[in-house]
Amino acid sequence: MHFVTFSILVCCSLGLSWAAGWNYPDLENNKDAPFPSWGGLCDSGKRQSPINLEAKWALKGKFDKLKFKNYDDEQKNLDMVNNGHSVQMNHFNDDMVLQGGGLGHEYELEQIHLHWWSEHTINSVRYPLEVHMVHRNRLYPNMTVATSFKDGIVVVGVLFHVSNSPNAAIGSIIKNLDDVQAYSRVNKPVTVANSLAVSDLMPQTLGSYYTYAGSLTTPSCAESVIWIVLTETLPVTLEQVNEFKKIEYSSGKQLYNNYRFLQTINNRVVVLVDSDHRTGGAAGRTASFGLILLLAMAAQKLFL
Ligand SMILES: *[C@@H]1O[C@H](CO)[C@@H](O)[C@H](O)[C@H]1NC(C)=O
Ligand SMILES: [Zn+2]
Repeated sequence: MHFVTFSILVCCSLGLSWAAGWNYPDLENNKDAPFPSWGGLCDSGKRQSPINLEAKWALKGKFDKLKFKNYDDEQKNLDMVNNGHSVQMNHFNDDMVLQGGGLGHEYELEQIHLHWWSEHTINSVRYPLEVHMVHRNRLYPNMTVATSFKDGIVVVGVLFHVSNSPNAAIGSIIKNLDDVQAYSRVNKPVTVANSLAVSDLMPQTLGSYYTYAGSLTTPSCAESVIWIVLTETLPVTLEQVNEFKKIEYSSGKQLYNNYRFLQTINNRVVVLVDSDHRTGGAAGRTASFGLILLLAMAAQKLFL
């Protein structure tokens, strides 16, 4: 493997350095602007994200409950950065771990960032905002290594719907936006002053979600992501969403939209999990992520 090239691509996808090499279409000035080619796996991959999540085409699954350990802890050392393609929060408390569900390993929270509008659509509806909670498989020492394995990363996606009542957790992120918004602030993290618990960004119903095998939605588009997109959406006002659009990615240029266009499913299996309402008879039944991959392979055989 060409490891040097690979690490460079991975570094940029994680927002560790600002590379002018890729961007989003300028939908503010041209709503029909085509999506630019990002190269590599972003163009050639067969397991890309985001996708449209359609309830009627999804397999129904009953996994064990997901366990979010310490997600209601107040974050003491959080910082926030404008990385030129999103607003990202880093340095979460140690020992915030996601496990259970169909996951075969423990996944540790690495960073949280936002997309405006949503990247995933549910039943073809695009929401105004999507939060991504990026987790690394504890088997792997860092994100660079994790992105080279199929089970390396879990991203939990939370979608927000338009409401008249402001979202308090999003509001506390917005409070810090002024300090990172200018182009001169790109890649210069600031400490988040007010406390935020990650669970404030999550809905009550954690047992209902779509899960599928996909990719990072920014270059390198590594196909190392188990996606968990929660079906319950949270409220946000359009005024709040507009605050994120003030982020500059270039001198005097605001990041009006930072969602990747929908990718083809290619016979992948999407499972709609509902672990909150499972009946007694299903109690002993658990499925692993390996089963999803197996089903995906079986489906491909059927359709070929
Ligand atoms: C990730 O871990 C590998 C293996 O331990 C190491 O070689 C590499 O330098 C690390 N990369 C980063 C960015 O820390
Ligand atoms: Zn993302």
